[in-house]
Amino acid sequence: MTDATLRARKVEALTEEEAQQELAALATEIAHHDELYHAKDAPEITDAAYDALVRRNRAIEARFPELVREDSPSRRVGAEAAEGFAKARHGVPMLSLDNGFGEADFLAFIASIRRFLKLDAETTLDFVAEPKIDGLSVNLLYEDGVFVRGATRGDGTVGEDITQNLLTLKDLPRKLKGKAPARIEIRGEVFCEKADFLAFRAAQQQAAAEREARRERGEKVGPAITIPVNPRNFAAGALRQLDPAITAQRPLKLFAYAMGEASEQPTDTHWHWLEKLRRWGFVVNPLSRQLSAEDAPGFQQRMTEDRASLAYDIDGVVYKLDRLDWQARLGFVGRAPRWAIAWKFPAEQATTVLRDIEIQVGRTGALTPRAVMEPVGVGGVMVTHATLHNEDEIARKDVRIGDTIIVQRAGDVIPQVVGVVLEKRPKGAKPFVFPDHCPVCGSHAIRPEGEVVRRCTGGLTCAAQTVERLIHFTRRNAMDIEGLGEENIHKLHDEGLVKSPADIFRLSRHVATLRSWEGWGERKIGNLLNAIEARRRVPLERFIFALGIRRIGESNAKLLARHYHSLEEWRAKMLAATKTGSEAREELGSIQGIGPAIATELAEFFLEPHNRDALDDLAREVTPEDAEIVAAADSPFAGKVVVFTGTLETMSRDEAEAQAERLGAKVTKSVSKKTDFVVVGADAGSKATKAAELGVATLSEAQWREMAGLG
Ligand code: IVH
Repeated sequence: MTDATLRARKVEALTEEEAQQELAALATEIAHHDELYHAKDAPEITDAAYDALVRRNRAIEARFPELVREDSPSRRVGAEAAEGFAKARHGVPMLSLDNGFGEADFLAFIASIRRFLKLDAETTLDFVAEPKIDGLSVNLLYEDGVFVRGATRGDGTVGEDITQNLLTLKDLPRKLKGKAPARIEIRGEVFCEKADFLAFRAAQQQAAAEREARRERGEKVGPAITIPVNPRNFAAGALRQLDPAITAQRPLKLFAYAMGEASEQPTDTHWHWLEKLRRWGFVVNPLSRQLSAEDAPGFQQRMTEDRASLAYDIDGVVYKLDRLDWQARLGFVGRAPRWAIAWKFPAEQATTVLRDIEIQVGRTGALTPRAVMEPVGVGGVMVTHATLHNEDEIARKDVRIGDTIIVQRAGDVIPQVVGVVLEKRPKGAKPFVFPDHCPVCGSHAIRPEGEVVRRCTGGLTCAAQTVERLIHFTRRNAMDIEGLGEENIHKLHDEGLVKSPADIFRLSRHVATLRSWEGWGERKIGNLLNAIEARRRVPLERFIFALGIRRIGESNAKLLARHYHSLEEWRAKMLAATKTGSEAREELGSIQGIGPAIATELAEFFLEPHNRDALDDLAREVTPEDAEIVAAADSPFAGKVVVFTGTLETMSRDEAEAQAERLGAKVTKSVSKKTDFVVVGADAGSKATKAAELGVATLSEAQWREMAGLG
C-alpha cells in the first residue's frame, strides 16, 4: 500500500504492520519539512498541513504505543528547532546615543564634557558631524584585512550573524586596501535610498493587487506579499532574509562610521579614523564635517534645510568629539557615550480631533491617560493614539474630548499631545475628570502628596499590573523570550496558564492545552518552549531588571548586579535592607548611582511578601549567572570599595569615579567600615575625618593616580 492510500485510512482501521510503515514514512516526511522550514526558511506546505501530519503521527502512536520510534517527531518536536541565524557576540557592545532636541541640549552636552574633563572655556572642542540615518547598524569583523563576519546589533551584546547577506552589498569591502590591523570591528549603517524604497514598494503593491485578483478568481496564489512601511523597515526585512539571493536583489547601501574592538588603536582622532575607513575602501558619508563646537548650530541649520533634498532619510546629526583620547576618558553612562550626541530635527506636528481619553494601567500601577484620535499622518506615519502624560498635563493644557488638538512625533518616540486649538472647541466640551479607581480592577487609585502619578493599589491582584509585569519580564532587554509577544501573554494570562513569571517556565506542562488552541500549531509551541528553555540561564543584571521593580531600569540593575555579584547575596542584602537604618540599607543607598530614594523603592519591593514569593518561585526555575568582577585582575582597586571626597586637581570627581569603576572598584558616597580607600582631595570635610576614625586607608590625589596607572 502506498503512503497516500494508507493516509486516507482511519487510524482505527490500521493493522500493526501498516501503522509501523506509516510511522516510518511520517518520521522522514516531518523531518524533511522541519529542515525546509527552519534551516532554509522555504516551507513547501502550510502550517495547517504540517500540523495535520504531526497530529496523525500522534494519533497512530496513541493507538500503538509500542511502535513509537527512536526518531519519532513527537519526541523531537520543538527540541531542535534551529533558529534562522546563528548568534554573534560583539567584541565590544554596540551602544546607542543620547538625543538632543535643540541648541540648549547641545550646549548642555558641551558643558558636561568640559566639566568632566576639567577643561576651561578657552579650550576648543572639535567635533565630527555626521548625518544620522535611520537604518540598521551592523558590526563588521575583519581579520588580517579580510571580512570574516557581519552581524546585526541585536540586543547590543549579541546580534545575528548575517554575513552571507552582507556579502551581497556592493559597498562592503571583502578585503581592506592597504595595511590593516590583525583584528578590527567596523560599525556602520545599512540603509535604503528613498527612490529605491518607493520603486520597490510600488512593485510590491502591484504584485499584491495581482495576487488578490487571482485569489478572487479562485486561482492558486503564493504566500502573502509584505509591503514595507518605510525605508528602515524595508532595509531590516532585506537584511534578515534567510536566502541571500533575495537580499542581493534589494538595493541596500552602507556608510561606515565607527570602530568596535580593535587589536591596535589605528588613529588619534575620529576624523582621521573616517579617512582611514575611506582608504580601506568603505563609503563614508560625504556630508560628514570636522567642525568646532561653535560651528555646530550653523551646520545643524544647513542640514535641516537640505534634509528634504537628500537621497536618503535622515532624522538628525550625530556630533562626536574628535579626540579619541578624550572619548576614552569620557567613556559611557548607561548605554550611551558621554562624548557624542544625536541632535534630532524638530518634531513634526499635525492637528486632529480628540475622540476619547483612555486610561492605561502600567506594570507599577501607574494610571496613564492616552488620547484616542481621528487617524492623522505625522512625519510619514499614521497615528491614532498619543500620550497625555498625566492628570496634571490634561488640566494644564485643558484638553477636552472633542477638541482639535496638535500632536507631534519626535524621532521614534511615542506621539505626544502638544496642545489644543481653542478656536475650534465644540460647545459644551467638559473638562476631563480623572478616575480615582483603577479602570481594570476597580481598586482605589491614589495619588500621594507631591507626586504626579496616580496609582492603582491593587498590586498583583490587578490583572493589568500582572500582565504588564509579565510583558516587561519577557522583553528583549529583560529575559528576551522570543515569540512571547504581548498578544500571547494576554492569552496565556487570561486562560489561567501564566500568572507569574515562574509560570512561564512551567508552560511545558500545559502542552495539551496549548495544542487545543486555534492557531497554536506544533511549530509555534515548539519554538516558544525552546525560546523559554534557552533563558533558564541569564546574566544577573537582566534577571534583576526583568523583575520590573520601580525605578530599577537597565543601568540600575547593572549597578546592583555588579555590586552584589550573585542572586543569593543580592537577595540576602535586600532583605536586610528592608530595615531602615540597617547597615545593608546604608550600603545600598551609598552605591554610586543608586542613592537613598531608589534604596527605599527596593526595600518596599522586598517588604511585600508577594514579591519575595514570586522571586523565590522564579529562582527555582531560572539560574542567574553571577556578575563578573569587571576589573583587570591586576588592578589594585579590583573589588575594592572606594570613596572620593574633596576637590581633585587633575580630573573631575565624575571622571575619577568613572575611572575607578573601570578598574573594578565599587564607588560609594559614604565612608564605613566596609570602605577600602578614601581618596582625599583639597578641602575634604567629614568623610576624611571619618576615614581616620575608622582606620580606613586614605590616598592623596597623586597616590590615587599612581595606583590607577594614570602616571
Ligand atoms: S555612532 C556609541 N554614528 O544611531 C556610538 N550612529 O542612536 C554608536 N546611527 O544604533 C553609534 N548614523 O544605528 C553613529 N553617524 C552615525 C550614525 C549612527 C546613524 C544610528 C545607529 C545607532 C543609533 C544610535
